[in-house]
Amino acid sequence: MQSTTTKNPQKATKEHPSGDKRFKALDITMKRNQHRQDALIEVLHKAQESFGYLEEDVLLYVARGLKLPLSRVYGVATFYHLFSLKPSGAHSCVVCLGTACYVKGSGQVLEALEQKTGIHQGETTPDGQMSLMSARCIGACGIAPAVVFDGTVAGKVTPEEALEKIKGWGVKQE
Ligand code: FES
Repeated sequence: MQSTTTKNPQKATKEHPSGDKRFKALDITMKRNQHRQDALIEVLHKAQESFGYLEEDVLLYVARGLKLPLSRVYGVATFYHLFSLKPSGAHSCVVCLGTACYVKGSGQVLEALEQKTGIHQGETTPDGQMSLMSARCIGACGIAPAVVFDGTVAGKVTPEEALEKIKGWGVKQE
């Protein structure tokens, strides 16, 4: 399992400070729409596709990018059922099901996680320890299959490694 650290001080002004490439995908969508405020739903859709869910940091980024008040972005994100806000589990695991990752076996990783935890993607374990989600391309195709554990992207993840990781979080497995 590899972790990515993509920080580059030279590009710091252009990128999200975290260096997370998923923000770049958001930038591209906003740029394509010329940062028009009426592109909000499309941008949020892209954000959910990339992150699996919308957390405050992402909503803030979109609000800044489209020069909209956070309250407006938050309002839209909570109004439409197709958007889900940050999940309730103490830990989060997002499996990328984009083409590159799927071809390299991310489907098996998700299946193993679902089988062992007894929950499906989009759900949280009954003890509240982990929320399991999926995303479509998180911008890490080069290290497919990719999984985001608590916000950190890991690459070339096998089902066994994913199960080991969540075991470390204390998630019960069947
Ligand atoms: S398809 Fe998974 S990172 Fe691109």
